[in-house]
Amino acid sequence: PTTRNFDFTISEIQGYPDGVLRSLYVINGQYPGPLIRVNRGDRVLVNVTNNLSVPMTFHWHGLYQNGTNWMDGTAGITQCPIPAGRSFLYNFTVEMQYGTYWYHSHYKTQYMDGLFGPLIIHAPEEAQFRSMYDHDQVVLLNDYYHNMSSTYVDAYLAPGNENNEPVPDNGLIQGMNYFDCSSLDPSDGYTCYANSTRAQFNVQQNQRYRFRLVNAGGFGMFQFAVDNHTLSVIEADSTMVEPLNVNRLDIAVAERYSVILNANQSAENYWIRATLDTYCFTTSNPVLDSAGIKGILSYTNNASDPVSGISAEWPGEDPNVLCVDLNTTLLVPADVQQAPKADLFFSLQFSFAIRENALDRAYINGTTWFQSDVPTLNTVVPALRAGNATFNQTGVASGYGLSNQYILDLPDYAVVDVLVTNYDDSSHPFHLHGHQFWVMASSASQYFDYSTYDSLNTTNPLRRDTIIVDSYGWTLIRFVNDNPGMWAFHCHIAWHLEAGLLMQFQSRNDIMKDWTLPDDVQGLCNI
Ligand code: C2O
Repeated sequence: PTTRNFDFTISEIQGYPDGVLRSLYVINGQYPGPLIRVNRGDRVLVNVTNNLSVPMTFHWHGLYQNGTNWMDGTAGITQCPIPAGRSFLYNFTVEMQYGTYWYHSHYKTQYMDGLFGPLIIHAPEEAQFRSMYDHDQVVLLNDYYHNMSSTYVDAYLAPGNENNEPVPDNGLIQGMNYFDCSSLDPSDGYTCYANSTRAQFNVQQNQRYRFRLVNAGGFGMFQFAVDNHTLSVIEADSTMVEPLNVNRLDIAVAERYSVILNANQSAENYWIRATLDTYCFTTSNPVLDSAGIKGILSYTNNASDPVSGISAEWPGEDPNVLCVDLNTTLLVPADVQQAPKADLFFSLQFSFAIRENALDRAYINGTTWFQSDVPTLNTVVPALRAGNATFNQTGVASGYGLSNQYILDLPDYAVVDVLVTNYDDSSHPFHLHGHQFWVMASSASQYFDYSTYDSLNTTNPLRRDTIIVDSYGWTLIRFVNDNPGMWAFHCHIAWHLEAGLLMQFQSRNDIMKDWTLPDDVQGLCNI
């Protein structure tokens, strides 16, 4: 296979993506991180040199890592984080998948400080979609704070703050957005440069653009729209779908969509709008609401603001429809798959409560996750090798003596249904590592009706790796337990991960029992 080499040097700098000076973690001096673009079948080598004063990792969001679970980058689960001042070589082969992905640190809330970037895998099957667009472009969205994420954590976890996630100060498109320096309180002591700019996308009339949208933020859901243009959705996470036209779509943290924009309007400039859904924020942010998170779609090759009148209203505005017209249940995978019959059914219930250390933490079936000093993989593999009899493959939860780990040990090749029920008052984007799952059903009302279980649609349901579980609602996913390793399943909101909203699946003991973890991976723990 072709080998693709990347050198990532991680450092802390003072930067000002939106004009406000703050500390940032950057990759090769860049914010956000560089695009990784490879072909399916390639071997990918990413040599990471951690010049920070804190540990870090990289997780390759959506990649299966089949046979290389220890390259999944999940601190406390598949590796010890890379210590300050050390290097580590991520080394894996990209197989069986293609599409739009991203990568990010999987250590605490750290990716919000700049350790993230897009990742695209190409494959020959793309040819059948290439006739639909002329240009291919990543559009990276992230919510944004003016301080290091770690400075918000203690206050957020303090008792009674469950609904007080830190409110973003801005949102960025391609790592930039306008910010009005005069909106800052001078007594807060920020340095603000009044030259912040909006992202500009130059288009040529009657050309078609594939925008690969990635929500690489830590908290907020974006509504994405382009004034006067319809968007045709062709990909959800890395699943290609039959084209579906929408005016705007919601994109939750860690989700990806590809949309095709046909530049068929008059040759003006138009707003690209990436509005943060603020209904879940405790307090609204008037600064955000007025200036907005906007980019410029430019037919004129210049950054002049769209002429008012062309774009005063959002396209397709219907005050009776809540903000969005993408109904994801209408997305039909282009590559048709039947969901097989399930062998096992698990019910996960989660909520927030004040218990451990008198903090307000998240609990899945009664367990709140703390990052383990010993990665669970490093505990499970030797135990399997030793023939530990407690591994009975019935899907029983176990923590293997590690505290605060909720682990379901799955039978080899089982088809597994997981019903996730949300007892919290906000919606949560859950991500499963190492797999795509079928979205079998979901609802915004509290209880799954078991009498409907035998009549679930199994004909080509949407497959993806990140899914919203609505407030006081539920989502039922199905996947095949075919990929060896320890796989995190968690809410992708960085604050909630820090609050412990994570559990793990233990998969393919038949393979894991013969594993020897590579020396360089194990070595990260012996420092
Ligand atoms: Cu995008 Cu657990 O990760």
